[in-house]
Amino acid sequence: ITTGKDDNGLKTYDPGYLNTAPVRSSICYIDGDEGILRYRGYPIEEVAESSSFVEVAYLLMYGNLPTQSQLAGWEFAISQHSAVPQGLLDIIQSMPHDAHPMGVLASAMSTLSVFHPDANPALRGQDLYKSKQVRDKQIVRVLGKAPAIAAAAYLRLAGRPAVLPSNNLSYSENFLYMLDSLGNKEYKPNPRLARVLDILFILHAEHEMNCSTAAVRHLASSGVDVFTALSGGVGALYGPLHGGANEAVLKMLNEIGAVENIPDFIEGVKNRKRKMSGFGHRVYKNYDPRAKVIRKLAEEVFSIVGRDPLIEVAVALEKAALSDDYFIKRKLYPNVDFYSGLIYRCTSCFFQIESTFLPPILPS
Ligand SMILES: CC(C)(COP(=O)(O)OP(=O)(O)OC[C@H]1O[C@@H](n2cnc3c(N)ncnc32)[C@H](O)[C@@H]1OP(=O)(O)O)[C@@H](O)C(=O)NCCC(=O)NCCS
Repeated sequence: ITTGKDDNGLKTYDPGYLNTAPVRSSICYIDGDEGILRYRGYPIEEVAESSSFVEVAYLLMYGNLPTQSQLAGWEFAISQHSAVPQGLLDIIQSMPHDAHPMGVLASAMSTLSVFHPDANPALRGQDLYKSKQVRDKQIVRVLGKAPAIAAAAYLRLAGRPAVLPSNNLSYSENFLYMLDSLGNKEYKPNPRLARVLDILFILHAEHEMNCSTAAVRHLASSGVDVFTALSGGVGALYGPLHGGANEAVLKMLNEIGAVENIPDFIEGVKNRKRKMSGFGHRVYKNYDPRAKVIRKLAEEVFSIVGRDPLIEVAVALEKAALSDDYFIKRKLYPNVDFYSGLIYRCTSCFFQIESTFLPPILPS
């Protein structure tokens, strides 16, 4: 803080940047005390109910919901960019058979920078941050390729080759098609499961200056290409205190194993032996509005694929925590990651390991 250019001024010390705003944004509004989240002014519950992920991505990028013809053009542009270069698929295939999908995604994202020299300021993409046209192209490229990379990463785990995207399915159907079709072009993903996935993508699409968005902005501020910047964001998201929390929740529920073990587990949390994954939030000091939507989605998914045995443990754990003084005093509620892992792994038989991941953070 200075009074002028000759004043060496005061330095601010703000660990976690809790009092530092790096940018003014009209994209997202959060009231953490009231549990409110809005995208461009629309309540999250409303967009999750009545829009598709691709529409929401357009809303976040351009400030308004697309007209029918804008939506058709946008979907077409994304689908035109949904294939991944063979060289990149070869790199994914050469990774260890048990490579974590987020590790694969981070590497694949940064590798795209060398496959697209027109988008790389270090090569030929000097217009990247100046030209809207060049920028728009990278947006559809990233949105188009992310599901194909994710699907290739999961198939790699199962020792299977990548499946090419289909051009006549919706965004989320296409993701399920690449995961589950085994190359059978007639395969039709379950539309209800695809819609559930689409809603999960919407719920993760934007969350103001969180750790991964801040990481992407930090990298991009050096003028580096968008793919390298996004790989930094994927790295941030990988951590168990951020997007990796849904994976940590699944591990935690497995460790607890049965409802009768919950009291001991809660005692361990209160004695600071460990944190409770999927609980607490930097901004929300109330029920995370996304967790409420996800809780309902869980029932929808289980009505299609059967009940995941861990759901009983999750429900009982939530109930025990919400009535315990330790959690009440600290305003610790379930966050978006508490139930999402349980749902993700039921939507495709290829979500094999206890991890879950996302193209959805990319608009953010
Ligand atoms: C998300 C998170 C990092 C936010 O942290 P934060 O707002 O900085 O919260 P603080 O670290 O200031 O914690 C406040 C208090 O609640 C406790 N606390 C916070 N989250 C907790 C959790 N999940 N389990 C147990 N205690 C928790 C802290 O130990 C602290 O207690 P103290 O005041 O006695 O020291 C934290 O809640 C957390 O680690 N949650 C688990 C990981 C997770 O689910 N992440 C996904 C977020 S979408």
